[in-house]
Amino acid sequence: MIPQQFIEEVQARTDIVDLISTYIPLKRTGRNFKALCPFHNEKTPSFFVSPQKQIFHCFGCGEGGGVIQFLMLFEKVSFIEAVEILAKRLGLEVPFQKKSLQDRLKTVLYELTEKASKFFLDELLTTPQGELARKYLLKRGINGETIRQFRLGYAPGKNTLLEFMRKKGYNLEILEKASLIIPKREGGYMDMFRERIIFPIFDVKGRVVGFGARALREDKDTPKYINSLENPIYGKRNHLYGFNFSKEEISKKNCAIVVEGYFDMITPYQEGIKNIVASLGTALTLEQINLLKRYTKNVILIFDSDKAGQLATLRALDLFLENGLKIGIVKMPQGFDPDSFIRKKGKEKFLELIQEKLDFFDYKVGVLKDTYDLDSIDGKTTVAEEMLRTINKITREVEKYEYVKKLASLLSVREEVLLLELTRMKEPTYQKSSLSIKKIEKPPMPITEKLLIQFILANKKAAKAIKRNLGVECFTHPLARKIISLLFDNFVENEDLSVTALLGMVEDKEITSFISQLLLEEKVSLTKELLRDCVLKLRRRRVKVLKEELRRKIKEAESKKDEKKVRELINRYKELKSEVR
Ligand code: UTP
Ligand code: MN
Repeated sequence: MIPQQFIEEVQARTDIVDLISTYIPLKRTGRNFKALCPFHNEKTPSFFVSPQKQIFHCFGCGEGGGVIQFLMLFEKVSFIEAVEILAKRLGLEVPFQKKSLQDRLKTVLYELTEKASKFFLDELLTTPQGELARKYLLKRGINGETIRQFRLGYAPGKNTLLEFMRKKGYNLEILEKASLIIPKREGGYMDMFRERIIFPIFDVKGRVVGFGARALREDKDTPKYINSLENPIYGKRNHLYGFNFSKEEISKKNCAIVVEGYFDMITPYQEGIKNIVASLGTALTLEQINLLKRYTKNVILIFDSDKAGQLATLRALDLFLENGLKIGIVKMPQGFDPDSFIRKKGKEKFLELIQEKLDFFDYKVGVLKDTYDLDSIDGKTTVAEEMLRTINKITREVEKYEYVKKLASLLSVREEVLLLELTRMKEPTYQKSSLSIKKIEKPPMPITEKLLIQFILANKKAAKAIKRNLGVECFTHPLARKIISLLFDNFVENEDLSVTALLGMVEDKEITSFISQLLLEEKVSLTKELLRDCVLKLRRRRVKVLKEELRRKIKEAESKKDEKKVRELINRYKELKSEVR
């Protein structure tokens, strides 16, 4: 935890226009600056920055907030990391307060995975039981240097790790959280990884966050590979295997090769093809794509031939195109994967294979041709639709048109027909930058509630009056309620807290986005009369609700012949009536 005061200080000392200009070019328009939004694809700028208010907001995708929110989105970092970046720019040291429970848990988990990884490496290199594993790796052409760099290991099982950790003073509960041991059916625990080659999985910074493990023996009863279970430091959606080793080379070569398996990443890397990562057997997630995108826009996907060609894989293409990435696809020859190919045919042949990559168009058409008959009307129509759906995701118009031309000539139909079809399709939905939060249409906020929020933000005196006269329960819209209770609790009474500083405290994106938009819109003039009307309106509405409730309760009491209760309720009803006219 960073002290609130420090967060306010770094924000106050950072100018939002300065900060954002270091990332994207800003153009002045009147009082504000504008730019093409970095968080979604657009052709005309709807991203605004206000130097007066020290906020940004995109009217296209709804992202918005202050300097911290900008960094969180742009650098894809956490709140704390954003504050750290700001502090670094200013040459300030971040004072840390006591860590939260979750942070302490994470620290222990990092420590555990690190220690376990050392244990597995030791087992591999120095013990008799590790010998089989050493021989196995040798047979697969992995050399000692590679073993050390990737910190490969061996897990003997038989509770060796459990006992090792117990002696070091770790309790079983935390070992289970770290996915190093699992509960046994008959009670007690056992090592999670037994008689397996260990691949530590690293995060971008090179910290061990989890493990993949390959069975040493062929055994139909257990899967070939198992992985750590999800925990606070490991989520399989978020990591790309080997990325910490290859990111610099990916950036330098401006190209990332994406393969499926651990060995398919390690073997090429060992042979000097270092711009390579592994997706670990699943389709790439948006999180992984965003990670790659920070280093290159060019991605080469290498599929095993048996797995490629499925329409499910094709769907992944759309995700790349939507995110503005260029992809090439390489299908491995039957029976090979990158690892076995390089070992049998060598690095040069592998590089040649990559040179023969297909772009998304040729690849997808190829797959579709295998499934549909291009000579039939039905087949042709389906192929056209499928291809256009993907072409529609391309973010650059010229490129899009080039592919329409290509499709037209391939299917021998006129371009205009395809273009017409394309315009009939829905605009591609842009991908929200961070996480794939589904945008659910919510009812708009009632204007009175919105105005009252505006009053509170604009003027502390008005804010106090509102707090005196209205409770949170007077607001009906869920977001308004969330914002109002935040403002009532933290902002209204806090004379020195500016709106910008407030924005910096809030981690709820729905709130920051709404407030930044409100501040940039702000066209109404906020007069005393308007304020009075708004307050009255909400009070009346609230009283009406309360009266209805009372009437219902009175009826209920009457039917139960509870005279005392009836009288009491009627008195309250009268009080309410006299309160607001
Ligand atoms: P493959 O079955 O292609 O294995 O799975 P591989 O990488 O070629 O492994 P070797 O060469 O036989 O050792 C590709 C990837 O899918 C994941 C692993 O990440 C693997 O590297 N996988 C596969 C699993 O997670 N579990 C499995 O049971 C199999
Ligand atoms: Mn393999």
